[in-house]
Amino acid sequence: MQIKRIHLSNFRNFKEKSFVFSNKTSVIVGPNASGKTNVLESLFLLSTGKSFRAKVEEEVIFYEEEIARAEGAVIEKEKGEKFGTNLEVILTRGEITIGMNPRKVEKVARKRLLINGVGKRLIDFAGKFRVTLFGPWDLGLVTEFPGKRRDFLDMVLSQTDREYRRTSLSYVKGLRQRNRLLLKIKEEGVSRSQLLFWDKLLIKNGDYISGKRAEFIEFANSQEGLNNQKFSLEYDKSAISEARLEQYKYEEVAATATLVGPHRDDFIFRLEEKESKKAMDIARYGSRGEQRMVVLWLKLAELSFIKEKIGELPTLLLDDIFSELDHEHRKIVMEVTKKQQTIITTADPHFVEGLDRMERIVLSA
Ligand SMILES: Nc1ncnc2c1ncn2[C@@H]1O[C@H](COP(=O)(O)OP(=O)(O)OP(=O)(O)O)[C@@H](O)[C@H]1O
Ligand SMILES: [Mg+2]
Repeated sequence: MQIKRIHLSNFRNFKEKSFVFSNKTSVIVGPNASGKTNVLESLFLLSTGKSFRAKVEEEVIFYEEEIARAEGAVIEKEKGEKFGTNLEVILTRGEITIGMNPRKVEKVARKRLLINGVGKRLIDFAGKFRVTLFGPWDLGLVTEFPGKRRDFLDMVLSQTDREYRRTSLSYVKGLRQRNRLLLKIKEEGVSRSQLLFWDKLLIKNGDYISGKRAEFIEFANSQEGLNNQKFSLEYDKSAISEARLEQYKYEEVAATATLVGPHRDDFIFRLEEKESKKAMDIARYGSRGEQRMVVLWLKLAELSFIKEKIGELPTLLLDDIFSELDHEHRKIVMEVTKKQQTIITTADPHFVEGLDRMERIVLSA
């Protein structure tokens, strides 16, 4: 699927605005704060049903307004526009005002997801239109806490696997229930036997999740390095099983938290040293440049993984990354942009001068 056009209403700094994208490369050029990242945020939202940067999704609603809307027309490459699909995300603050006199406030859903006008659950909405998003904040994948890396794995696997979407949701709900029960065991002396049901559910879903995560990590490790540098990932898996739960049974009641399972997973970025052949931990010992490179390598692995699973490359969204890359790596990215639909933002158009057949979208401050 490719994105043909979008229309945004009360979305971030856009009151009403449409964008049309090339099936090759589109470059969004504009000064700081003109809304470049906001456009990519809306595309990511149409793809995954989630914002990649709003902590609370109502943040995307134009100040003082009640409803934000992002609509996008996606088409299959071969079939063309006639068989397009309309994706739509509507966000509210939980209520809307109806009428002027008298004014009536009505409770409404905070988020609605629609395909061709029909409401969908998140697991059925996400994954229709696939994207790989790459921006300066992705450096945090290496430098920040494990939650970031788990979110990354979830984002990739959710795009390619409906069962993964379903299973993760069920796992998170089960985990919440189980932790609540641990609290009751600690404070109200409820019997431990009640845990059994949740244990089974978490073990079943947890196995599926870690199996798929391992599959992605293995896939990434089978990919080529960058500029003769050999990168790899090491899965730091928190296995969940009856035995492991048994092992932590006192600690987890004390902590009132489930202490093993994929919600505790992590992975380590490694770079093979040329002489010793030892795989160095990039988060600890890598230079800033090496950290950037491994993130680029991971993003390229993400592209290939989606291609392998879906049979088609996702749309690549690049947010202002050129200023952070050196000349060599800029060239690598430029080569990659030619292979699939790509949407690039930049404040400085001279970075993308080398691109032929690009369409330019200009935003003003
Ligand atoms: N809910 C909102 N309502 C109205 N405006 C908003 C809202 N959220 C963010 N903005 C505005 O959007 C602008 C930022 O947009 P964005 O981050 O997309 O800019 P940018 O072009 O990517 O800038 P930079 O080059 O600095 O990255 C800011 O001026 C901000 O005030
Ligand atoms: Mg930006």
